[in-house]
This record gives sequence, structure tokens and C-alpha cells, in this order.
Amino acid sequence: MLGLSVMSQLDFHIEQKVAQRDSIDLAARRLGSQPGWVVEFGLGRGRSYSHLASRFPDREIYCFDREHATNPGWGPPAERVVLGDLATVLADPAVQARFHGRVILAHLDLAWADSADTRLHRMVVDRTRDWLLPGAWILSDRAVPLDPAWGVVPLPASDEVGYAHRFHRYERRPVA
Ligand SMILES: C[S@@+](CC[C@H](N)C(=O)[O-])C[C@H]1O[C@@H](n2cnc3c(N)ncnc32)[C@H](O)[C@@H]1O
Repeated sequence: MLGLSVMSQLDFHIEQKVAQRDSIDLAARRLGSQPGWVVEFGLGRGRSYSHLASRFPDREIYCFDREHATNPGWGPPAERVVLGDLATVLADPAVQARFHGRVILAHLDLAWADSADTRLHRMVVDRTRDWLLPGAWILSDRAVPLDPAWGVVPLPASDEVGYAHRFHRYERRPVA
């Protein structure tokens, strides 16, 4: 008989989605009055995009992925989708110039299954940290190995996020 104390993949998935939703909701409460764009890395089927759009209704939200595969009616307009492999897209000077210093929230939803590989997450934060306005947040489905020189720090724990260890919250340190 299966012991009920065993953590199933469904348990893990539910906990992570609660943490993801609560993190976006917390970001909306804390950043709601600050101008800036929202970017999502890992548009996928558009589920988290639809939540970002509902919580940041008046923002420009740009989404990145290899392909545009959102559920019909739930995705961003085509002009706000940037397609291609992130290693290539984020090396493009035109993309860098377009987003530099404009972003108040970056949402990374890039991991495959329960992979612990964070090289992609680290590359994305490294190549987009200059997109972030002072005080901007990064939300990530994996803990990002940070370089102190980036000026990006973990946010203090919040009891407003359920299963907070399943999704990760960072802030671009405001200039003193
Ligand atoms: C977990 S899914 C995103 C789920 C989505 N946020 C949702 O709520 O429906 C991860 C996405 O990241 C994208 N992705 C992963 N690695 C990528 C890369 N190197 N370049 C571009 N997209 C990538 C995949 O194509 C996939 O759609």
C-alpha cells in the first residue's frame, strides 16, 4: 500500500503552482504602483502568462519561448512574443537595446519536470539583469545561483506565499 507520507509528483506540482501563483500575486501587490514592463521566460501554454496578465492588467507583458504554443485565446498578442532559443535571442544586441532598463518584473518558468539544472536560469538572469529597474523583482521556478556583482539578492521570506521554497523571489537592489 502506498504510504500517504510519500511526496508524489502531483503533490510537488501542486505545491509549486501554489508558490508560483502566490509569488505573482505578491509581486502585483508590492510592485503595482511602480512603472515598468513585465517579461516572462518560458511562455509555454500561456497559463502563467494569463495569471500575469490578470494581475498586471495595464502593463506591457513580453514573453519569450522557442515556440508560440499557447492555449487558444490565452496568449499574448504576437507582437509581444519573442521567439527563439534564449541563448541566441539574449545575445541579440537589438533585443538587449529594446529591453534595457525597462523591466519591473521578470518571471522565469523554464524548468523541465523536476530537473535541478539551473544553468539556463543563471544565463537568463546574467544576460537580462541590466533590463531590470532598481527595485525590480525576479520570480523563478528554480533557485538561481547569483553572482554578488549582479546586485540581485533574494527577497526576505514572506508568509503571503504558500510553499515558498518551491518558487524563488529576488530583487534588483535599488541604488543607495
Ligand atoms: C514549464 S514550460 C512553461 C510553462 C508556462 N509558463 C505555462 O504556464 O504554461 C517551460 C517552457 O520553457 C521553454 N524553454 C525552455 N528552454 C528554453 C530555451 N533554451 N529557449 C527558449 N525557450 C525555452 C520551453 O519551450 C517551454 O515552453
